[in-house]
Amino acid sequence: MDKKKSKTSLEGFKEDAPEPQGRIEDKGQVDNDNNEQTVLISLKGKADYEFMISLLPFNLGSSTYLHCQPSTVNSNKGSNNIMWHKGKVTYEDRCKNLGQRGVVVWFTGLSGSGKSTIAVEVEKELLKQGKAVYRLDGDNVRHGLNSDLGFAKEDRDENIRRIAEVAALFKDAGLITLASFISPFQKMRDFARERAGEDSFIEVYVKADVETCAERDPKGLYEKAKQGEIENFTGISSPYEEPDDADVVIDTAELTVEESVEKVLEAIDN
Ligand code: ADX
Repeated sequence: MDKKKSKTSLEGFKEDAPEPQGRIEDKGQVDNDNNEQTVLISLKGKADYEFMISLLPFNLGSSTYLHCQPSTVNSNKGSNNIMWHKGKVTYEDRCKNLGQRGVVVWFTGLSGSGKSTIAVEVEKELLKQGKAVYRLDGDNVRHGLNSDLGFAKEDRDENIRRIAEVAALFKDAGLITLASFISPFQKMRDFARERAGEDSFIEVYVKADVETCAERDPKGLYEKAKQGEIENFTGISSPYEEPDDADVVIDTAELTVEESVEKVLEAIDN
């Protein structure tokens, strides 16, 4: 089992909730009609938490997947009276219907590294193959859902938090979801992975150094940033944390767009 898949943690589950300080009070297993195992974990202490986690093994093609979904989450931070309302159609039902696995393919890299160019071609190729696919792009999402956010660290974190949630929902709908965002901070990329689920998240690092991106400068933004006309510009006046353990690394100074697309399609192999 690889390192990422063996990682189990409640940490970061609800980003702004207080850390559980107590101990696991109760741990039970219930089998219901659907061959589903539900594990109840309640943590008592400084904050009260109650998690119900459904574990549902299902088959698609020759592989077996374990779907893990929180069915109830309570914490004492503003969500005490919110209960998960479980439907009668599951993630695996939707995947079977579509004949594919919902997955989040997360492209990260500097502005101008080639994230959107590659994602656009991957989307076109998957559609040609008859797949249900949708692309979420930083610039586009900032025109609507995230139009209230700027580029200070807190805004970028909120940008990625919202997109991570949206991408996880799209994945749950069974879609191959392509998300291209600079997403400069490892912590938020890890959050996106956690929300999609370890088995349903592919991190693609679109690698190009800042000099290369500034030379390409397709939107003229690097020039503006160097002139001090744009604040907090990634790579110039705001940091980019390189992924140290991406699932796919694409060096766009070395590979053509076609080769890059091929590499991503191989990783998705849906
Ligand atoms: S992120 O850092 O919050 O993930 P996101 O991917 O949504 O960024 O948006 C990046 C795009 O916004 C860039 O491709 C660029 O076109 C534009 N942009 C405008 N201002 C900035 C800035 N200060 N830093 C980086 N990108 C910027």
